[in-house]
Amino acid sequence: MKRIELNAYGVPEDVAVCAEVPDVGAPEVGEVVFDVIAFPINPADISFCRGGYRIKPPFPATPGAECVGRVSAAGAGVTHVKPGDLVINLQRENWAQRRRVKGADAIRVPTGVDLRQAAMLRINPPTALLLLTDIVDVPAGGGWVIQNVANSAVGRLVISIAKRRGLRTVNVVRRADVFDELKALGADVLLLDGPDLAARVKEATGGANIPLGLDAVSGAATARIAACVSDGGTVCTYGAMSGEGPQAMTVADLIYRGVTQTGFMLGRFLAKRSAAEIEKIYAELAAGLMDGTFSAPVDHVYAIEDIRAALIRAQEGGRDGKVLVAPNGPI
Ligand SMILES: NC(=O)c1ccc[n+]([C@@H]2O[C@H](COP(=O)([O-])OP(=O)(O)OC[C@H]3O[C@@H](n4cnc5c(N)ncnc54)[C@H](OP(=O)(O)O)[C@@H]3O)[C@@H](O)[C@H]2O)c1
Repeated sequence: MKRIELNAYGVPEDVAVCAEVPDVGAPEVGEVVFDVIAFPINPADISFCRGGYRIKPPFPATPGAECVGRVSAAGAGVTHVKPGDLVINLQRENWAQRRRVKGADAIRVPTGVDLRQAAMLRINPPTALLLLTDIVDVPAGGGWVIQNVANSAVGRLVISIAKRRGLRTVNVVRRADVFDELKALGADVLLLDGPDLAARVKEATGGANIPLGLDAVSGAATARIAACVSDGGTVCTYGAMSGEGPQAMTVADLIYRGVTQTGFMLGRFLAKRSAAEIEKIYAELAAGLMDGTFSAPVDHVYAIEDIRAALIRAQEGGRDGKVLVAPNGPI
């Protein structure tokens, strides 16, 4: 079977190779084997390849924080999934044609779900959801949230989920050609990032109270979001697309206005929940995929042998969506 392997950390398209490796074998007691149907290339996977991610396993290392697969065999004692079922995997190393995992890590998703969307279910949808529920209480019935990278997969999900929860969003992006798409998703205010952002936000919202700012750019952009939240508001950094750090905030925002700065990592926030609560979150998000409440656009789907081209494309700005890889044939 084929698997993506790194034997060094560095430029992703140079270090990631499609290797022929022994098959994963039959499932043991409590295990599940599934064929990987598709996996996305997320910013965290790019950091992983570069050796900049928080996890840096010994070589050969296989990236891949998420995927969707079809169960081919279930070991003794596994009752929640059977061959033919679609699953997402709560564990890593998913850039491969086949995976053998603990049964508890294989979460069943509904038959009939869009396979491309299911490949992106594990990380970004719960991230968007928990950013809106777990950081501060944004008042239902029209409370405001501001976010940058609003046209990213997470940003689009924030717009859709916020809309469903009765919240309003100020959406900051770095190019105006995405305004119409985001408006169609339900974005209330759209602005380009840059100087005077806080003044432009104030004008566009009529000086609304904005208790929560979401930042995935980092560096100077964090300060621009911090300047937009209300006195006593919170800025939550959950990504660093600019590669800049540290996350700056002015002394005035920190001291005079009492703005709080915090951070989010999905694993940390899921770890506060029981297995049953996590399953419930994914069931609700999968239902949202099924009924079309939200989705993430896909730029292109590559074969696993074309991992080099896929990685190059995934690092280009201005894409029309996510880059996916389908390791067992076209989807
Ligand atoms: N903390 C967590 O648990 C967690 C979980 C999921 C995701 N994340 C983070 O969330 C962020 C978005 O992830 P995603 O999968 O939604 O991304 P994505 O769909 O791949 O989109 C990437 C976005 O980043 C923007 N971008 C790229 N380089 C930039 C730069 N230098 N300055 C400003 N914007 C830039 C792109 O804008 P253009 O379209 O204009 O190129 C695009 O909107 C990433 O930082 C990711 O690591 C964090």
